[in-house]
Amino acid sequence: MALQLGDTVPDFTQNSQLGPINLYDFAGDSWVVLFSHPADYTPVCTTELGEVSRLRSEWEKRNVKTIALSVDSAESHQGWICDINETQKTTVDYPILADEDKTVSDLYGMIHPNALNNLTVRSVFIIDPNKKLRLQITYPASTGRNFDEILRVIDSLQLTDHHQVATPVNWKDGDDCVVVPSIPTDEARGKFPKGVTEIKPYLRMTPQPNR
Ligand code: BEZ
Repeated sequence: MALQLGDTVPDFTQNSQLGPINLYDFAGDSWVVLFSHPADYTPVCTTELGEVSRLRSEWEKRNVKTIALSVDSAESHQGWICDINETQKTTVDYPILADEDKTVSDLYGMIHPNALNNLTVRSVFIIDPNKKLRLQITYPASTGRNFDEILRVIDSLQLTDHHQVATPVNWKDGDDCVVVPSIPTDEARGKFPKGVTEIKPYLRMTPQPNR
């Protein structure tokens, strides 16, 4: 069965260029971004893995660990990382799973019957510290991912897990938030001392509460 948001994600141990990685041990109390790509030594993937590496401080700020995956070997990953480091001006130090036997790809539904022959599609999974799946996106092979968007979603999840707000269209960290519909406006005014603007009874805005 396909994974659904809110499911506990399956644990696995798989080889990588850094040696065997057990997901749950690797994650510890961190968030995890697990992302698959079709193959090593491909141009779009080269830029993506470089960008994830260059964003290291942004992941660290949010207590996020990153794991990439393809069905190529650990030796292939090692050679490719040299190219990524050279061309993308970075040093990749996160694990790239060598899912040659497709254990993880099958567990996470990363191989689609209509995609390139038995290669993993460009999937992204955000997993929270309770090992729950919080986001899943699949991109076409020809479209590189926007990891700023992944960071933005993590900001929203980390905020809305702790405050009774939701984040509106195109929200980014620091912007005003929506008061969740379950709180009456009078109660919301008490909960959000920075102020609540009632645009419609069902559309109430408040400054971001944790800023
Ligand atoms: C790439 O990563 O560059 C790529 C992979 C599969 C199909 C098209 C592009």
